[in-house]
Amino acid sequence: MVLTAPFAAVFGLLMIATTASAHPHKATGHAKAALSARSGNTCGDAIARRAEGIASARRRHLHSRMLEDDSPLARRGLESRAKYPEIQNTSCVLAPDTVVGPYFVDGELYRRDVTEGEPGVPLYLDIGVLDMDTCEPLENAFIDMWHCNASGTYSGYTGINPDTVEAYDGECVTVRADGTTDDTTFLRGFTKTDASGIAEFLSIFPGYYSSRTTHIHITVHVNGTISEDGTNTLASSSIQHVGQLFFEEDLINQVYELDNYNAHLSTLDRVLNDEDSVYVDGNTGGYSAVITTELLGDTLADGLIGYITVTVNTTNIVDMSNTNPVGVIPTVSLAEGAEASASAVDACEGL
Ligand SMILES: *[C@@H]1O[C@H](CO)[C@@H](O)[C@H](O)[C@H]1NC(C)=O
Ligand SMILES: *[C@@H]1O[C@H](CO)[C@@H](O)[C@H](O)[C@H]1NC(C)=O
Ligand SMILES: *[C@@H]1O[C@H](CO)[C@@H](O)[C@H](O)[C@H]1NC(C)=O
Ligand SMILES: *[C@@H]1O[C@H](CO)[C@@H](O)[C@H](O)[C@H]1NC(C)=O
Repeated sequence: MVLTAPFAAVFGLLMIATTASAHPHKATGHAKAALSARSGNTCGDAIARRAEGIASARRRHLHSRMLEDDSPLARRGLESRAKYPEIQNTSCVLAPDTVVGPYFVDGELYRRDVTEGEPGVPLYLDIGVLDMDTCEPLENAFIDMWHCNASGTYSGYTGINPDTVEAYDGECVTVRADGTTDDTTFLRGFTKTDASGIAEFLSIFPGYYSSRTTHIHITVHVNGTISEDGTNTLASSSIQHVGQLFFEEDLINQVYELDNYNAHLSTLDRVLNDEDSVYVDGNTGGYSAVITTELLGDTLADGLIGYITVTVNTTNIVDMSNTNPVGVIPTVSLAEGAEASASAVDACEGL
């Protein structure tokens, strides 16, 4: 299959961050201190004042999630995890808008658990949303989240080789006009913030692919609704924030030593945070789009909880035609069966 011209152009754009040197394990350390010293994070003080309130809301969430969850981790009991996230103003974010990237699709499902059985390090991702004007929690904001699997593939684009970001050679891959190759949905979904402004996803730590450092995409919709046609997708609404979230370089290195992640360390030069222009743009001027993490159990393989606070300009309307380099938002059309099984895991929560 030959790439369509617009599709090739899109991936061409993404090659900007590629480097020639091989450094899959090189650690640079994240310049957190330098970031916190800069100004610009106008909600930083408010976050610091509210820290205990936010942290206890997060603890309550985690507690109830763990009680519902029948995972081996949950069965170990909460007591065995002494470390709970303490919110820190320096690790909170007032993330500036970044690009949505070529892997965004419409038609993601309303659910908290997006894993669909993808193997990897479990990641509870806890995103707090604050109103930029008031620095107060934003309730009922829809957060749309998507990222690649442990070996670098996005659902909806499984025909794209993560080592080359081009369609797999010599295989039966059809790249559609909108860039997608299929209607799979793993590691995508959207959910809604509660009265504390917090929404929580259950996913896995993302893998990586050529030309980008490890990242998770989000968009925030203040006036989103769930589609009424029964598809359980986000009904079209304007987007107030487009962001990408990142991890500390040292953590990335540790995760990528593990099975499911280490496969292409030998075949692909991994792009580091500091070499990725989206990372650099998202982490300047007092902003930090780096997710703070804690181990859930004794080892990394047991999983992580990651938390970050994002402030959103509720009156902003992101022009998606400028934000998305594809110029169109692909819509994944799910068969009823796929939809049902993708949503089943959250059904008990009444989502
Ligand atoms: C973070 O909190 C400390 C006090 O805990 C305060 O001195 C500092 O200015 C705060 N930083 C930001 C960026 O708000
Ligand atoms: C990631 O997804 C692709 C496409 O579905 C699959 O072939 C691959 O095995 C997945 N990676 C892992 C680590 O399971
Ligand atoms: C969200 O809805 C409220 C109430 O209808 C409206 O005033 C506001 O302009 C909407 N905001 C956006 C960004 O669409
Ligand atoms: C929020 O968005 C509105 C509408 O785009 C814009 O006029 C305003 O300057 C933005 N506020 C900030 C603080 O960026």
